Amino acid sequence: MSRPIRIAPSILSADFARLGDEVRAIDEAGADWIHLDVMDGHFVPNISFGPGVVRAIRPLTAKPFDVHLMIAPVDAYLDAFAQAGADRISVHVEAGPHIHRSIGHIGSLGLKAGVALNPGTPAKMLDYLIDLVDQVIVMTVNPGFGGQHFIGSQLKKIAAVRKMIDATGRDIALEVDGGIDAATAARAIDAGADVLVAGTSVFGAGGDYAANIARLRPA
Ligand code: DX5
Ligand code: ZN
Repeated sequence: MSRPIRIAPSILSADFARLGDEVRAIDEAGADWIHLDVMDGHFVPNISFGPGVVRAIRPLTAKPFDVHLMIAPVDAYLDAFAQAGADRISVHVEAGPHIHRSIGHIGSLGLKAGVALNPGTPAKMLDYLIDLVDQVIVMTVNPGFGGQHFIGSQLKKIAAVRKMIDATGRDIALEVDGGIDAATAARAIDAGADVLVAGTSVFGAGGDYAANIARLRPA
């Protein structure tokens, strides 16, 4: 398969006491995008960080900021994350309340717009969104925490989304998020993913980040 594979380390698993250094380190280690997991303690059972942190680390790298919003309702916060330096913003279909409006608004801010599907959410939810989005995130864990196990049933969804994307003929990233290590990365890529989010396997694996990132790329 000749599709380029991009690696997006999630700073959720970074050492927050040294966040700036961590961002510089994954930049130098070859991260393609920086994945930023924003959690509100309401849509998901955990709280992470908001636009202030995104703004603070923005000057430290030129890599695209891939902001994954796990907050509901989400619309009131889209402008703040755009101003903080997001390049791409993804929202969950359940987080709207009006996902079609949210996607349109992200595009109107000049950013790449993504939609995220929880493990229990069918690919069919994309039917009336796929022509509007630049990115689809297939969650391979239930959102809220790093370090969870990859849910294998989602491979079928990745393959279904790959078909939908190819049918559009448009350049839409297919991102897989949760439980990605060298073994699950290979399975996700085989199913059609082309962007791999990785928290624990980059930041929590010990050793150097360049090797941890390289291990996720196809041989
Ligand atoms: C889960 C987040 C993921 C997560 C990935 O809610 O969206 O980005 O932090 O972490 P790992 O790679 O540890 O599963
Ligand atoms: Zn994420």
